[in-house]
Amino acid sequence: MTDAKKLFIKTYGCQMNVYDSERMAETLEGYEQTDRPEDADMILLNTCHIREKAAEKVYSELGRYKNLKSEKPDLKIGVAGCVAQAEGEEIMKRQPLVDLVVGPQAYHRLPDLVKRTSNGAKALDTDFPEEDKFTRMKGRPKARRAPAAFLTVQEGCDKFCAFCVVPYTRGAEVSRPSSQVIREAQDLVERGVREVTLLGQNVNAYNGHDTGLAGLIWDLAEIDGLERIRFTTSHPNDMDDALIAAHGECSKLMPYLHLPVQSGSDRILKAMNRKHTAESYIRLIERLRDARPDLMLSGDFIVGFPGETEQDFEDTLSLVREVRYGSAYSFKYSARPGTPAAEKDDIDGAEATERLRKLQALLTEQQRAAQDAQVGNEVSVLFEKEGRQEGQMVGKSDYLHAVHVAHEDARIGQIAKVKIVESGTNSLKGEFLREIA
Ligand code: SAH
Ligand code: SF4
Ligand code: F3S
Repeated sequence: MTDAKKLFIKTYGCQMNVYDSERMAETLEGYEQTDRPEDADMILLNTCHIREKAAEKVYSELGRYKNLKSEKPDLKIGVAGCVAQAEGEEIMKRQPLVDLVVGPQAYHRLPDLVKRTSNGAKALDTDFPEEDKFTRMKGRPKARRAPAAFLTVQEGCDKFCAFCVVPYTRGAEVSRPSSQVIREAQDLVERGVREVTLLGQNVNAYNGHDTGLAGLIWDLAEIDGLERIRFTTSHPNDMDDALIAAHGECSKLMPYLHLPVQSGSDRILKAMNRKHTAESYIRLIERLRDARPDLMLSGDFIVGFPGETEQDFEDTLSLVREVRYGSAYSFKYSARPGTPAAEKDDIDGAEATERLRKLQALLTEQQRAAQDAQVGNEVSVLFEKEGRQEGQMVGKSDYLHAVHVAHEDARIGQIAKVKIVESGTNSLKGEFLREIA
């Protein structure tokens, strides 16, 4: 019997927040997680500030907890993540039911913050402390876990794209030492993990190893039992020769790369302060494909950036046609407080919506084609969980496609060769051939 208190965490935004939510839950000793807010003694929202809609969701979610708090006055409500960092004081003012606010670089101090709220006081910590939060937190628990895990290796961003809040919410670029990352990866493998995705806002700027991210990947590839390595998100300007080469030479590095370009117009790229051109991006993709011909590419796009003309948008469509993406994310520009682009006039909203629709139609078509082209191929699949239908297993292929397999021998954590037989709406169907790891 435990009398542990219950913690409900809701995570918004990027994979780095998913990783942070796990680590926050682990630092809160005496709490166990629940997926029902109404059962919770503490509710923590791990938030995202990237676009206006993302940030506004936080306030509407908090509004929903009003009744819970009046029924259970001891309930603690906390806001973490990038909205906490950007609007900490304002959250406290706008939503009196919030007890604590903690920024992404200060969450190792969560247990103290919670203590400070025990007599009804409020606690706020949005420092960018000198100390490394990862060395201040206790070791990770030893429980078994799912076969694919995220591992943050780099945080923050020094790029200052004109539209983006990340350099302000996450602070300057900092890399974790490779020895620390390798220890954490070994520990994950002992707990059943077979695939790690290395995370960073600018992950290929990683400098915690003498030879950068490529050096780290090669060291991680030495770990027995760790079968697959991925990384995200990269900036085109930090893709060095060693990392390009690793895509062709390191068999554990998966052939999938998320490499955002944002726009295909040099005029807009310049206004965005991206410091690369459409041409240099396309040349980079060519070099990557020379190293690894079957590399699946994914990207991010912003349409309707201030000053974007019809011609600029056409240039984006041309770039997409030339690159041929396996998947992609596209967004309508959202002006964010404190960023240089927010000073400029927005383009017509209806026009931006129409451009987004066109771009998404093209990207969906490419995604569909890439998925359909898998039919008949043999791919490797890491099984992650049981499918919704009885007797089915679901896993991810090397190219990150979801693959369903009906096979009684397939088990979670196994990697198998699978023959793809059908392409469905959002996933592939395959036949189990043989176990490979
Ligand atoms: N560090 C990554 C991802 C940053 S945020 C990178 O450099 O690519 C993820 C994506 O959100 C960005 O790639 C961009 O496409 C989008 N995004 C960022 N700020 C935005 C804004 N103000 N409006 C619309 N989309 C935005
Ligand atoms: Fe934002 Fe640009 Fe940094 Fe990516 S590289 S996090 S888009 S500032
Ligand atoms: Fe959002 Fe912060 Fe990630 S703004 S995208 S949660 S780094």
